[in-house]
Amino acid sequence: FFRAAASPPLRNFLLLGPSGGGKTALFSLLESKSSRIPKPEPLTHTSQTSTLTTVALPATVTAASNRYRSVNDSSLLDISKNPVRYRVRDTPGHGKLRESQGLSQLREMTQSKEARERLRAVVFMVDAAALSEEEALRDTATYLHDVLFVLQKRALDKGKSAAKVAAEVPVLVAANKQDLFTALPAGSVREKLEAEIERVRKFRSKGLMDASAGSGETGGEDEILGNDEGQEKFTFKLLEDEVGSNAERGSGVRKWEEWIGMWL
Ligand code: GTP
Ligand code: MG
Repeated sequence: FFRAAASPPLRNFLLLGPSGGGKTALFSLLESKSSRIPKPEPLTHTSQTSTLTTVALPATVTAASNRYRSVNDSSLLDISKNPVRYRVRDTPGHGKLRESQGLSQLREMTQSKEARERLRAVVFMVDAAALSEEEALRDTATYLHDVLFVLQKRALDKGKSAAKVAAEVPVLVAANKQDLFTALPAGSVREKLEAEIERVRKFRSKGLMDASAGSGETGGEDEILGNDEGQEKFTFKLLEDEVGSNAERGSGVRKWEEWIGMWL
């Protein structure tokens, strides 16, 4: 049977992260899984534009909105014919394109209440095999810092404390490329990024202090990424989750889909 009610607007998931992290690989994988088109050869080129696609949650992954339905609900039995759909937006991770694409889309998608309703979560893809290189670590941490900062600023503008940002737009830091033996496990990715984001934070706040020193202005508190009240070091606990995976072959992608399902 058909449900008469108009379906709600599709929820959006934004894929962010540095170039080469595997966003497009994940995007293509989700797309091909949904459409039953054979999986295309992995793209090895850098994305230059954003792309949007609609994909379906596998019937075996529970969407939060279905969790409390009665087992007698016939729409649940029919889930394979009527799967939960959502939209994924792939963005280019190149340093020169972040501001004009990933970050500005994040700002746009959190701007109005309506847009925010549709942006369920951010998946930040990290190349876990690259983080032992200093430059890649710094680049990744800087981008993640900027993403979290956009989200914090949005929440603080609305008068919420930093801790509540978690409830606003959840961020999954995906430690990708776990199939490579050089890949750091998710726990180390977390530690490395925390430490490096802490450095970015210090660097930014020093820049702010230098800038305001001559003008006699104080403040700038809001201009720094932080945890709640006066916590010294940056930690992910309040803001993010992280899961290791392999976007290319799809092993572990189920864990990401389960995470996505929590917000659908
Ligand atoms: P930009 O578009 O530049 O932002 O990069 P991206 O995040 O879209 O990366 P992309 O998906 O293009 O992947 C970059 C490279 O990593 C490609 O050669 C992929 O085939 C490869 N790759 C992606 N995911 C994995 C993975 O899980 N394991 C391995 N070994 N390689 C992967
Ligand atoms: Mg790409």
